[in-house]
Amino acid sequence: MDWGLQNRIARFVKPITGHTVMLAADHGYFMGPTRRLENPRATLEPLLPFADAVAVTRGVLRRSIPATSDVPVVLRVSGGVTVLKEDLSDEAITTSMEEALRLNVAAVALSVFVGAPHEHQSLVSLAELVDEGEAMGMPVMAITAVGKELEKRDARYLSLACRVSAELGAHLVKTYYCENFEKVVEGCPVPLVVAGGPKLDSDRAVLDLCEGAMVKGAIGVDMGRNIWQSDHPVAMLQAIRAIVHEKATAREALQMLEPGRKPSAARSAPA
Ligand code: R5P
Repeated sequence: MDWGLQNRIARFVKPITGHTVMLAADHGYFMGPTRRLENPRATLEPLLPFADAVAVTRGVLRRSIPATSDVPVVLRVSGGVTVLKEDLSDEAITTSMEEALRLNVAAVALSVFVGAPHEHQSLVSLAELVDEGEAMGMPVMAITAVGKELEKRDARYLSLACRVSAELGAHLVKTYYCENFEKVVEGCPVPLVVAGGPKLDSDRAVLDLCEGAMVKGAIGVDMGRNIWQSDHPVAMLQAIRAIVHEKATAREALQMLEPGRKPSAARSAPA
């Protein structure tokens, strides 16, 4: 891997642990003003000091994140369809590599829709983006999207989608946690991060998901709704950091959510 590409990845996959806590806020591009992300600037501002990266579109980046921020950015570059359509797989590249470089981002991300009506165009977009990324020193993260078919999220399907993404050259893959997640990890030769999906029933369920993913071989999370739709988003992000970077168990991390608990260190604080 070329120096620039490695260096960009090292901005958000922290070299000291090899792990990452990415804050996903790239929902509005197809879901509109998602609950508790109606005003991205207000939602993200208190969370950014605790995130190893933030995942957004160029619109939110320019309008809602100060250019003086030192948080690494993973730029969503695919889109073109909204929740009003039944088939969410009809995406194309919506932001150029030149724009990604201009915005000085740490990586670009696109969704791939394996098995969906527009599988072919999303996979070709991934391959073309990787060609450009390799030429420019820009890491590419593939997101194994399932559209509205959340029931697709099992080890058999996700193993296929992650492996195909890696074979086409993705440098990182974002996928879902599932039963037998270790099989997904085993079949994927590039690092995996997990999304959270729609908000889970309890804090403990979120932390169990994070612990399970880390124990089974993920390098981190790229999580949104289960953080910023929480009633205590900063504490939740800190608790997830403890699991990802400090090997805390879900039970230990849950204690960090107790009211009155002293906050733990921000991303930029010395270890
Ligand atoms: C979908 O819009 C994006 O890929 C999200 O970044 C991804 O689903 C992670 O966010 P959440 O944890 O809310 O599922």
